[in-house]
Amino acid sequence: MHPDCERVLLTEQQIAARVREAGDWLTARFAGRTPVAVCNLKGSVVFFADVLRAAKIDAEMDFMAVSSYGANAVSSGKPYVKRDLFSSVEGRDVLLVEDIVDTGRTLVTLREFFKERGAASVTVVALLDKPARRVVKAAADFVCFSVEDEFLVGYGLDYAERYRNLPYIGVLKRAVYEK
Ligand code: IMP
Ligand code: MG
Repeated sequence: MHPDCERVLLTEQQIAARVREAGDWLTARFAGRTPVAVCNLKGSVVFFADVLRAAKIDAEMDFMAVSSYGANAVSSGKPYVKRDLFSSVEGRDVLLVEDIVDTGRTLVTLREFFKERGAASVTVVALLDKPARRVVKAAADFVCFSVEDEFLVGYGLDYAERYRNLPYIGVLKRAVYEK
C-alpha cells in the first residue's frame, strides 16, 4: 500500500467485480443504441476505460473537463467547463461516466450542459457516491459503491494530481492534506 494511505477501502478485485456488473447494466440499457460516452476528466479516466470495455455496447467516446476543485480536498464552489467536448451531442444518447458524486454540483452542472446542447437522453454511471456530502439534489443512474465521507485516492482519483494510477482505492491520511 502507498505510505500516504491509511488503508485500502476497495481492492483491485472488488472494483473489477463491481465494474463488470456496471458493464452488464450498460449492456442492457444501451442495447441497439449508440451512445456518446463522455469521460469527465481527469478522475473518471480509469473507470471509463474499464467500464466501457465491460459493456458490450457500440459506444463513441468523448472527453471533457469540468472542475470545481483546485489542489484542495474541499470543493471550491460552482463547477465550470474547463475543456469542451470534441463532438456534438445534439440528438444523441449521452452516457456520462463519473468518478464520484460528492456535493452533486458537477452532476447537476453536467446534466444541464447536455440538455442545453440538445442531448436526447442523459444516463449517468458513477464509480462512487458520497451521499453524506450532498448539497444539491443529484443522483447517478448507476452507482458502483456508496462510500463514507473520507478523502479517497487511486483508480483515477487524485489529491493535488497525485495517486491517480494506484490500482486500488485508498483512504488518504489526513496528515497529507491537512499540512
Ligand atoms: P461534486 O461536484 O462536489 O460532486 O464533485 C465531484 C468531484 O470532486 C469528483 O469528480 C472528484 O474529482 C472530486 N472529489 C470528490 N471527492 C473526492 C475524493 O474523495 N477524492 C478525490 N476527488 C474527489
Ligand atoms: Mg480531482
